[in-house]
Amino acid sequence: MSDRLDGKIAVITGGTTGIGLAAAKTFAAEGAHVYITGRRADVLKTAEQEIGGYVTGVLADSTSNDDLDRLMAQIKSEAGRIDVLFANAGGGTMLPLGQITEEHIDDIFGRNVKAMIFTVQKALPLMVRGSSIVLAGSSASIEGAAAFSVYSASKAAVRNLARSWVLDLKDSGIRVNVLSPGPIRTPFLLDFAGNDPVQQKGMLDYLGTRVPLGRVGEPEEIAKVALFLASDDSSFVNGAEIFADGGQAQV
Ligand SMILES: NC(=O)c1ccc[n+]([C@@H]2O[C@H](COP(=O)([O-])OP(=O)(O)OC[C@H]3O[C@@H](n4cnc5c(N)ncnc54)[C@H](OP(=O)(O)O)[C@@H]3O)[C@@H](O)[C@H]2O)c1
Repeated sequence: MSDRLDGKIAVITGGTTGIGLAAAKTFAAEGAHVYITGRRADVLKTAEQEIGGYVTGVLADSTSNDDLDRLMAQIKSEAGRIDVLFANAGGGTMLPLGQITEEHIDDIFGRNVKAMIFTVQKALPLMVRGSSIVLAGSSASIEGAAAFSVYSASKAAVRNLARSWVLDLKDSGIRVNVLSPGPIRTPFLLDFAGNDPVQQKGMLDYLGTRVPLGRVGEPEEIAKVALFLASDDSSFVNGAEIFADGGQAQV
């Protein structure tokens, strides 16, 4: 590892498992003081121990504006600024057209769109010139998937938030990009196959056949792209959607 985030203050929402946890480990190893959030206290504590380095866990639900206010107030008083914001918390469930409910839409758009907007908006006063915002998108943003329309639409919305926010942030020196993974081996993805390891393996094998590289991705492979977007290595990358999907949505 090098020191590409040496002395930087990095915030990763949903940093306790999956992609967020891998990104937190990578950012901390590159010298950042990493703030991670999550809703489960025990999982948060385990993640803090696993990440090592300079890490602060904050129990916060991104869909709660009170929690986001508390998170930003803590960072302001302890660190004074944010250099990197990875708005990663999100997810969704499946329902086919014909069974979509109001609750399903509110839940998924609440997590992936509304919470993301307020996460960024509330972090903005702490963000300095040269800082980087990374939004969790998905290759679903440009693909169709049966029973996944609401989730996919929410990730398409994230992509447009970045397009518009780079205009709102013109001349601020703050960059915004979307990081869009394909299928990645995380608790979020594995949950779709339930708790049975055999079913989970079957699902991952099937999903891998749909990827030109012939496999699903690992959280660490997304963390490396997050590091690129977070660091000055991507200093002229702005408003982009960077796919890390093994080619799935690129063919
Ligand atoms: N895995 C994939 O195949 C894939 C593909 C494309 C895009 N993505 C996107 O990547 C992001 C991360 O997904 P993942 O696969 O790494 O999921 P994951 O392993 O389930 O991790 C989600 C993380 O976010 C936290 N979280 C969830 N809801 C939250 C909330 N409302 N407030 C605060 N923290 C919350 C979780 O902890 P708690 O549950 O304790 O809060 C956990 O730390 C999501 O936005 C997802 O849509 C994933």
